Amino acid sequence: MVITIQQLSQWKQQGRKITALTAYDFPIAQLLDRAGVDLILVGDTVGMVTLGYETTLPVTLDEMLHHAKAVRRGVKEALLVVDLPFLTYQESPQQAMHSAGRVLKETGARGVKLEGGSEAIAETVNKLTIAGIPVLAHVGLTPQSVHQFGGYRKQGKTTDAADRILAEAVALEEAGAFAIVLEHIPADLGKTISEKLTIPTIGIGAGPHCDGQILVINDMLGLSAWQPPFVKTYANISETITEAVKDYCFEVREEKFPDGGNG
Ligand code: KIV
Repeated sequence: MVITIQQLSQWKQQGRKITALTAYDFPIAQLLDRAGVDLILVGDTVGMVTLGYETTLPVTLDEMLHHAKAVRRGVKEALLVVDLPFLTYQESPQQAMHSAGRVLKETGARGVKLEGGSEAIAETVNKLTIAGIPVLAHVGLTPQSVHQFGGYRKQGKTTDAADRILAEAVALEEAGAFAIVLEHIPADLGKTISEKLTIPTIGIGAGPHCDGQILVINDMLGLSAWQPPFVKTYANISETITEAVKDYCFEVREEKFPDGGNG
């Protein structure tokens, strides 16, 4: 079944949780899609987990387009959304329109994600939505503002901060976002926002009451050198790869591979 933004909204009403994961290349996208993930995000975390940058800030639109095209080729059913990277949308709604337009036209993705809940961002979300571009919003810990936060810290811990994040979420829903990512906030704030909004909330470190959950694929597969405290690792792919590579090196050095009969 091809997943649409309307389907996500229906699932929220029915209380059916939404599953989301990031992907950055063709083979992983194909595996996630075939496994039945509802939403696949080409996150700008690509910069940290596959390109080796220290933050997401250096990621360019061209890098996002390159990865998104590869992911697109592997996706048949999941809703494919692509992050707009740092400084490709914050300057003006026109800049955002240009960047989002390139993503939709050049990759075949069906939506974009952008971070923040300021009035200016809400205005941009509104302009994109009016132009027919589905927008996934993102509040709480927004990694493109890591330097402003002084690190990847949990957000919304004081009443004032929680109220501000709730107000941002409401404004982004009013602006037309089809769903919203809530990152690294207290679980009770995740619950309050999820109950208040009619659009689906997709949590990452925002507790169990969100309408869906998202994780960075490398983190949940045990492929990241560092990972946030809220991640659950469902596999240890680093260990599997290391063991396989060691076995290969051993067998080549010991002249066990290739064997005579296998070329
Ligand atoms: O870039 C990303 O991967 C994200 C997810 C963590 C939600 O924004």
